Amino acid sequence: MEKEGMMNKRTVAILTGGGDCPGLNAAIRGITKTAIGDFGWNVIGIQDGYDGLINDRKRELHWGDVSNILPLGGTILGTSNKADPFGTYENGQKVDVSDRVIRNLEEWNVSALFCIGGDGTNIIANRLSQKWPNIIGVPKTIDNDLLCTDQTFGFDTACSFVTDSLDRIHSTAQSHHRVMVIEVMGRYAGWIALQGGLAGGGDIILIPEMPFSWNAVVDAVKSRSKGGKRFSIVVVSEGAHPVGEKMVVREVIKDSPDPLRLGGIGQAVADHIERETGHESRVTVLGHLQRGGSPSFFDRILATRYGVAAARLARAGEFKKIVALKGGEIVSASLEEATSGLKLVSENDEIVSVAKSVGTSFGV
Ligand code: F6P
Repeated sequence: MEKEGMMNKRTVAILTGGGDCPGLNAAIRGITKTAIGDFGWNVIGIQDGYDGLINDRKRELHWGDVSNILPLGGTILGTSNKADPFGTYENGQKVDVSDRVIRNLEEWNVSALFCIGGDGTNIIANRLSQKWPNIIGVPKTIDNDLLCTDQTFGFDTACSFVTDSLDRIHSTAQSHHRVMVIEVMGRYAGWIALQGGLAGGGDIILIPEMPFSWNAVVDAVKSRSKGGKRFSIVVVSEGAHPVGEKMVVREVIKDSPDPLRLGGIGQAVADHIERETGHESRVTVLGHLQRGGSPSFFDRILATRYGVAAARLARAGEFKKIVALKGGEIVSASLEEATSGLKLVSENDEIVSVAKSVGTSFGV
């Protein structure tokens, strides 16, 4: 690969926004090594997502800065799931500082900005690209809810953790003849509960896309015990809710672009089952453990492929795009399209029918 000459040595910038997930460092490394090694560019790492872009906090990234970070969880750049250039609180007022952000990018001589994030980060990236086009998105999130891509990195590691947790829960559930309820993350999408639950042999899986009936959940537990199974494993997505009822909100974070934090439905499900069946029930909330730790083999490769592909897109001058995975190939899609909604589970998905065929109840 021919490097660009010193005269036109470009500077590119990277930020990681939103909730962290395993694989962020692998993506930072992929972009940085390609930018420096293949193209001879300078790389700036912006601190704490859009917060650093707003408040001029950054540092240069050299080859050595991204060596040995491949297996590390979290992000060496820091992140923020509150900062938004289009709505920042200053002196108690919500103000649009997007022009300041663009001024910063221009003062730093940045010719491409890589925004590694989930839907929130990429929605902002898309909005910003209407004013300053040289932006490329990189899809991460344990929730796997981004449109235009088959998989975001972070999801595989989170699901592996859920699977391992379910294996552990299984043995204690069996010993004590209990109903064990495991609440997992995923926000408005049920991918983690569905895939982690299927891999871990969950008997009942409750997801936001398929509002459940209390009676069906209770019946599923009762019919298992009638069939001789003295324990049940119930995997509940944090966004799961009964038909006609709202999701359970744990906290409202006012200065966050998406202020709702979900959580608590697992306890409600465990209480209901114990009351209606007489079976002792326990709840385990896996919480932020799902976002921590070293990325899996799959996420390391995916994040690296995304990082390298994103740098190559910048080299080709293809902006306002997001890198994506389609049928095993790395492709790109428009940021606009990728942020036009959320990728949710459909009842017609093959994985749903597979789960049903092996006896999983969705509580419907
Ligand atoms: O989007 C990732 C995610 O972990 C969701 O699954 C979860 O609902 C949310 O972030 C939790 O956010 P916070 O870290 O602000 O509690």
